[in-house]
Amino acid sequence: MNVNCELRSVIGAREIDRKVDLLAKRVNADYAGRVPLLVCVLKGAFMFCADLARRLSVEAEIDFVRIRSYGAGDVSSGRAVLVKDVECGIAGRDVLIVEDIVDTGFSMNFLLDEFAARKPGSLRLAALIDKRERRQVEVNVDYPCFTVDQGFLVGYGLDYAERYRTSPGIFSLKIG
Ligand code: IMP
Ligand code: MG
Repeated sequence: MNVNCELRSVIGAREIDRKVDLLAKRVNADYAGRVPLLVCVLKGAFMFCADLARRLSVEAEIDFVRIRSYGAGDVSSGRAVLVKDVECGIAGRDVLIVEDIVDTGFSMNFLLDEFAARKPGSLRLAALIDKRERRQVEVNVDYPCFTVDQGFLVGYGLDYAERYRTSPGIFSLKIG
């Protein structure tokens, strides 16, 4: 466990609330009359997905995936596998992937390709954070909550070595 970790507040709980509200309004408008399937990407998106889901006025279903990306240190690589798949078919469904953070883009590029091959009716991506600095593959984030340039972020579902996920706000972590 690192002893020299410096946390700096980046986004407070109230600002997250406000942005998730706005995002839910867009989703409600865009999916009016349909029943989207929210696919929460574990573990990081659990809090964001729960907060988004409870604000939806459209009826929605929820399922979960978990992706393992292979990489060195805190950077993922092109290799990814689904270690937990959705339990329902997605052919013809209006699928909305709900992810915590898009960094290099490898994980979401992989999941979008994987899901597209199953012929959903529509396929979109919501991300709590669209982090551009280290992007390696182009990924279109249809619904970004926040866009940040850089930094390693923790809190509100995001972790560093499984720590900080339960924090209601988002912090940047500097490892000394
Ligand atoms: P990718 O690099 O876009 O494939 O992102 C892979 C995963 O790395 C994300 O889904 C997050 O779980 C994790 N990740 C990337 N950047 C951060 C960060 O700043 N804090 C916490 N987790 C991160
Ligand atoms: Mg993730």
